[in-house]
This record gives sequence, structure tokens and C-alpha cells, in this order.
Amino acid sequence: MEIKQIGVIGAGQMGSGIAQVAAQAGYSVVMMDASDSQLDKGIERIQKNLDRSVEKGRISVEKKVEILERIGTTSKIEVVAADSDIVIEAIIENIKVKSEVFRELDVHCPSHTILASNTSSLPITEIAAVTKRPEKVIGMHFMNPVPVMKLVEVIRGLATSDDVFHTVHDLAVQMGKQPVEVQDFPGFVSNRVLMPMINEAIYTVYEGVATPEAVDQVMKLGMNHPMGPLTLADFIGLDTCLYIMETLYEGFADSKYRPCPLLRKYVKAGWLGRKSGRGFYVYE
Ligand code: CAA
Ligand code: NAD
Repeated sequence: MEIKQIGVIGAGQMGSGIAQVAAQAGYSVVMMDASDSQLDKGIERIQKNLDRSVEKGRISVEKKVEILERIGTTSKIEVVAADSDIVIEAIIENIKVKSEVFRELDVHCPSHTILASNTSSLPITEIAAVTKRPEKVIGMHFMNPVPVMKLVEVIRGLATSDDVFHTVHDLAVQMGKQPVEVQDFPGFVSNRVLMPMINEAIYTVYEGVATPEAVDQVMKLGMNHPMGPLTLADFIGLDTCLYIMETLYEGFADSKYRPCPLLRKYVKAGWLGRKSGRGFYVYE
């Protein structure tokens, strides 16, 4: 199946990154968000990234303008749905909210449109079940920051067709990424392995074993991680980290995935990490 237009739902850190790499790869993109200010911020983020690419001599100014012109924005889901060959959803990590968006997309999209979710942990099969096209629903899990990270986990739901899998696999390659096939279980591979480490790092702070700075230093200097786990948690968003831990905890019914109470407390306080200005660290 040929992909010409890509719809992106959500203009946050992931949605804007996906829109950027899709436009860089030559696709027409329509990015939608329920919040106008998030749409503005998303476009600003893309402009900043492209400016840096111009400064570094990776693209010309003309190329930058061309990429930006390929990205349209809207606050209406119908506009994204109308002409998109695939819609990639990147909104809040909540099954009820995501299911509602998929229900609406299913109603408004042409019958050939593939519906993909950038979910970090939620069941693709359950999201697919709210649509009348479960064979066209799939997980397309990009990593943060999208313009930099190579991996895309491609997650097959129970009913995902081979055609759709291959189309999305090839699309990830066209977008300059390396797809890896994964089956539909909580947290897939990436967050089933990563998030318990982050949660454990938060427990070490909660139990007074070490300060956030010390925990991060141990993992950076001792394990060569590019960011310490608490810096990474702030970067991902503490709300997203908590939602993922809850999905693992419920999905596997195993106490080893119990979200740390300190993580819950921070999210309740609105300390969501970089995006809210405060998490384990304070940001300007
Ligand atoms: N957006 C776009 N580009 C960014 C960026 C951002 N947010 N942050 C950094 N970059 C770019 C920089 O501009 C720089 O590019 P140039 O080649 O133009 O110089 C390049 O990345 C390297 O950046 P820096 O030199 O400033 O810093 P660094 O070497 O420490 O790299 C990093 C930054 C790539 C983010 C690195 O710290 C890293 O790999 N961190 C870990 C990221 C990670 O683990 N991501 C996965 C998170 S989990 C996930 O995504 C799944 C989930 O479901 C939660
Ligand atoms: P974010 O908070 O930066 O952005 C979410 C955006 O969705 C916001 O702009 C919000 O206004 C918008 N939104 C919420 N409900 C909406 C709706 N019903 N319709 C339209 N827009 C709506 O979040 P993010 O970090 O970009 O994460 C988005 C998704 O990507 C989540 O499912 C998350 O688990 C996943 N993800 C996140 C990361 C990460 O490191 N943050 C990595 C991979 C995948």
C-alpha cells in the first residue's frame, strides 16, 4: 500500500517529533492536537530542530522551508482523518482516551487508512477492538527524542494483517528508522525492560539510599548510560512513566511492577519532569 499523507494525533514531544521525521522523509503531514497552544509549541519545537540542522549544514534553508510547508496543523480530528493513508496517534497514555480517539478515527477515515498507536505500553489488541478494522490497527512505537533515536518497535495486535505490518515496517525504514517486530504484551520489550529500572531508581531515592544526582551518576559513570534514570524519567515525563508502570502492574498482576509511591506523589503534585518545569530536577 502506498503512503502519501500521514496524520499525527497529538503535538506533544512525541507527536511533533513524528511529524518532523515524516515531513523530512517527504510525506505530507497533518498534525492535530486538542490544545492550540500545544500545536504552537509542537511547531516551534520542529522549527528549532530544523534550524539546528541548517546551522550544522545538514540541510539548506530552502529544504527547511520545504519540510515545514509539508506540515499542516488542525484541532479537528475529521481534518486529519479525511485524506490520511495512515494516522499515528501520540496522545496521553490512557486507554479510555486513546480508545475514544480510535473510535472517532474509525468513523471518519477512509476504509484503507491504517490506524497506528505510539503507545508505550497499552494493548494494541484492545485499542483495535473498538474499531471495525482491527486488521488495520498496529503499534508504531517511536523513541524519544524521535529525530535522534533509531528504533521503532512495531507491535502486532492479535488481528493485525501481514500487509499492514509490512507497510508500517517499510514506512519506518523510509522515515530513517530501524523497525523491530514485537508481540502485543504490556510494555512490549522497550518499556518492560526500561521502566522497572527507572521505577527501581525512584525507589532508591524514596528509601533514602541516595540522592537523584548520586543515582544518576552511578548509572552514567558506572554503566555508561547516556542519561541517568532519573534524568531520563524527567525527560520521558513522570506521568507517562507512572501510566506505563500501572499498565505493567495490572497487565502482569505481579508486585515486582508496583509503581513507587514517590512517583505517584510527584505526578499528583503536577511534577511531571521537564515538560512541567519540575520533576526530580528543576528546569528553567
Ligand atoms: N530533540 C531533537 N534533537 C535532540 C534532542 C531533542 N529533544 N535532544 C538532543 N538532540 C540532538 C542534539 O541536537 C544533538 O544533535 P546534533 O547532532 O545536531 O549535535 C544530538 O541529539 C546529541 O545531543 P547532545 O550532544 O546535546 O547530548 P547527548 O549527546 O547527551 O545526547 C540524547 C542527547 C540523544 C538525548 C542522549 O542523552 C540519549 O540518548 N539519552 C537517552 C535517550 C533515551 O533513552 N531515549 C529513550 C527513552 S524511552 C522511550 O522513548 C520509550 C517510551 O515509551 C517511554
Ligand atoms: P505529551 O504530554 O508531550 O503530549 C501529549 C499531547 O496529546 C498533548 O499535546 C495533549 O494536548 C494531546 N492530547 C491529549 N488528549 C488528546 C485528544 N483526545 N486529542 C488530541 N490531542 C490530545 O506526551 P508524549 O510524551 O508526547 O507522549 C504521547 C504518547 O507517546 C503516549 O502514549 C506516550 O506513552 C508515548 N510515548 C512517549 C514517550 C516519551 O518518552 N515521552 C516515548 C515513546 C512513546
